[in-house]
Parts: sequence; structure tokens; C-alpha cells
Amino acid sequence: MIGSAYRALPIVPHPTLSLPMIRKRTQVGIVGAGPAGLLLARLLHRHSIESVILENRSRDYIEQRVRAGVLEQGTVDLLIAAGVGERLQKEGLVHHGIELRFGGAGHRIDLTRLSGGKSITVYGQQEVVKDLIKARLAAGGELVFEVESVTLHDIESSAPRILFRSNGEEVELCCDAIAGCDGFHGVCRPSIPAAALSIFERAYPFAWLGILAQAPPTRDELIYAYHERGFALYSMRSPQVTRLYLQVTPEEDLAAWPDERIWQELHARLETDSAWSLREGPILERGVTGMRSFVVEPMQYGRLFLAGDAAHIVPPTGAKGMNLAIADVFVLSQALREFFGSGRADLLDAYSQTCLRRVWRAEHFSWWMTSMLHRFPEDAFQQKLQRSQLDYVVSSRAAATSLAENYVGLPLARRLQPAEEIDEATTQLRPLPSIKEVLWNSDIA
Ligand code: FAD
Ligand code: DHB
Repeated sequence: MIGSAYRALPIVPHPTLSLPMIRKRTQVGIVGAGPAGLLLARLLHRHSIESVILENRSRDYIEQRVRAGVLEQGTVDLLIAAGVGERLQKEGLVHHGIELRFGGAGHRIDLTRLSGGKSITVYGQQEVVKDLIKARLAAGGELVFEVESVTLHDIESSAPRILFRSNGEEVELCCDAIAGCDGFHGVCRPSIPAAALSIFERAYPFAWLGILAQAPPTRDELIYAYHERGFALYSMRSPQVTRLYLQVTPEEDLAAWPDERIWQELHARLETDSAWSLREGPILERGVTGMRSFVVEPMQYGRLFLAGDAAHIVPPTGAKGMNLAIADVFVLSQALREFFGSGRADLLDAYSQTCLRRVWRAEHFSWWMTSMLHRFPEDAFQQKLQRSQLDYVVSSRAAATSLAENYVGLPLARRLQPAEEIDEATTQLRPLPSIKEVLWNSDIA
């Protein structure tokens, strides 16, 4: 469906197919309706900037796609400030700690106490997507599902264009800027000349088998378990649904994992010397996700700006993927607001640089959590290091504080803090501007 609010230009011949082509115009063309694309459109709308979102899947498909579930404090603040936090505030599960479990014993990391009062919220990514789609359509915004053959043109110019097919029609969308929010396998990143990009990546010798189970959680915080059989993660989605993950091999065949084997393995890896036990239930959904670290630099080329998974991937252990996508589009929305409002391009020019500082922090944290908690094949030295690191994190306030600060999420506009600003009397960092302050100062609400 293509709505009517964006401007239709005259019909012209298609350059290669010589079919009639519909020409349209908008300020920002957004490719991809994941959390990045949808939230960007919402933020731009709040600043009276027109956009069109193009998504190659159906609405039903993207609303049912089970993915991440942990929202950082800043993500929650931003969604609320953007006017899409009502259901999140009602149904999201606020957590103040996580457990690291190893050697059969649990060790709680008190996120809230160690981070100066912040928390995380468990709320499925597809719920965020549903809320954003609903708000987009209610505001009369353009969101075109099931588009095909999306290609980008003239991205280095001030008049970039997107060609696509929708409902059997060829469409040319003329834009002032394009946001590439089309995930890791999208078309935007490959539209940039390879010579203009540097790629940094790391593969891991394992993947995650994730399940959703119709079983009430028997514990109200997440458990990250290090075990000789491999990593396991205990999470949840609601008071009735548990979300669980197991470390498996990257080429794992789901057919080799009947329900009994999944439960057996979860029981073994989540074993503990306390009275706690895992509750089983019907498995509603299952899938295997590969793990990688990936960053492309820069995240922009001409008038094309990459955001979220289109520009970077983290292994899921730090729960950072969706949160990074959301932080990117906050920065991009502010830069586009400045650009369309005053004609100043300096924030847009600095977009990649601004995002990459935060991206690399999350890349490091995700790599660190992954390396500490997963079983690497036949590496006894690594195992000794992992146990040493785990013992340190749960017994040193400084190490636990570092984990907590990264896990709840760093502020969007964090400045580098000179060492002399660390208050020696309390060994506490002086408070930096919180995302709430950044949001407040940027007048988004
Ligand atoms: P996406 O959510 O990928 O959205 C991109 C959108 O673009 C999609 O809707 C896609 O259909 C669309 N698209 C692609 N190509 C085109 C095209 N050519 N034209 C138009 N539209 C296009 N993170 C965690 O923290 N924890 C997890 O447990 C976790 N699990 C994950 C499981 C899977 C299977 C995957 C793939 C990711 C997972 N992640 C997880 C990561 C997290 O979900 C992502 O970081 C997050 O989705 C990024 O949002 P995004 O909007 O950048 O990209
Ligand atoms: C979930 C996913 C993660 O990657 C993580 O680190 C914690 C929780 C989840 O899906 O609930």
C-alpha cells in the first residue's frame, strides 16, 4: 500500500525497463521497517520531517519475528519520549539485576545499585515493532510493505533516489537523504562503493539455539550460565512465557534437537546448588542464530546514512543489537532535524563519527561477555581465564560496576571523562549527562 501524503510527480519512463514509472518525493527515504527504520520515521515525524518507509516483508511477518528482548534504560526513555511507550510501560518487565551462574552457584549483579539507579526492561523486539507500526499508521505516515527490487541511485549527490516495485508498479522515490535501516543482509550497505568502506569483523565458533516456551518464569531476573557443556541463558517475555538460549555449533541442525534434548540440556547447564528449578512447557518457537561481530566504517556515504544492523552486528550476549540500532537513529534524527531546520550539515557530517564511539564500546562489551561466558573448543587456557574473570566480576565492585554500566547502556551523548574527574573519595564516577537529560535538552518530548 502506498499512502497519499507524499507528493506524486509526473509519470516518466523507467530507465531500464521502459515501463511507465511513478515518481514520488519525500525528504527522507527509509529502507527497512525494523526498530531502526520505524523509530527514525517516528522521531522525524515529531520534528515535522516527512519520510517514506520501504519494507520488503509483510506487516504480519515483521510483527511476528522473534528476536531481542532487553531494552536499555535509554531505549526505554527514548521510546516513552517519542510517544510509543504506553504498552511498554504497562507490560514491560523492569529488572534491577542479572545473575551470573557458574560452578553451580549464582552471583547477582545489582545493576541498579551499581549504575546509579538505572534498570533494564524485558519487552520483546516484535512488541516494539508493533507499537511503532501502529503509531506510524495512526499518524498517517507512509509505510510500504512487500516492496521488491529496491535499488539506490545518485547517493553521492544531494538528490538521491530509490527505485522499487510495489503492487506491480515501478516507483522512483526522490529524496534529500536516505536512511539505510535494512539490516545486515539489506541492499543499502552494498550500494556504497566497496573502496569507500572499511570492514572490521570477527566470527565465533558457536551459535545460539533460542526457544520461547509456554512456561511461567520461575525467577524474575535473567541468568547467564557458564557451564562445561556450553553457555545457557534464562530469560522471559511475560509472566507466562520463558525465553531460553543454548550455545550450539554454528552449523547446528534443529532437527537434531527434539524437545526432550533441549530441556535436558537446559536443566544440565542451568544446574545450581540452590533450590531453584526450571519449569518446562510447550515450545512455541525455536531457531538458531549465528554469532558475529561486524562494523563498517564510515556509516555514511554522500546522502546515504546506515543505521542499526546495516552498519554493525554484535553477538547477542550483551543484549546490545536493538539498543544500538535505536541509539543510531536518535543521533540521525537530531542531525536531520538540524539539517532541514537550519541548513547546517555539521551534525550530519559527524553522524558516523558520533555513532561509532558508542558502537565500538558496545562491540567491546558484547565480545567480552561472549568470550567470558561461552565454551571455546578445547582451550583449557581460555577456560582458566574465564573462571578467573568470572570470579573477579562477582567479587570486585569495580569490575561489577563496569559490567552494570555497560549492560544498562551508556548515555547517548557520553563525553570522554578525564581521569582526574573520577572522585577518588568514593571511587564513583561523577554522574554524566543521562539520556533523559539529553532527550530533555534536545526537546524531543
Ligand atoms: P532489522 O531488525 O534487521 O530490520 C531491518 C528491516 O529491513 C527488516 O524488517 C528487513 O525485512 C528489512 N529489509 C531488508 N532488506 C530490505 C530491502 N532490500 N528492502 C526493504 N526492506 C528490507 N539482539 C539481541 O540483543 N538479542 C537477541 O536475542 C537477538 N536475537 C536475534 C535473532 C536474529 C535471528 C537476528 C537476525 C537478530 C537478533 N538480534 C538480537 C539482533 C537484533 O534483533 C538486531 O540488532 C535488531 O533487529 C536491529 O534492528 P534494525 O532495525 O537495524 O534491523
Ligand atoms: C535476551 C536476549 C539476549 O541476547 C540477552 O543477552 C538477554 C536476553 C532475550 O531475548 O530475552
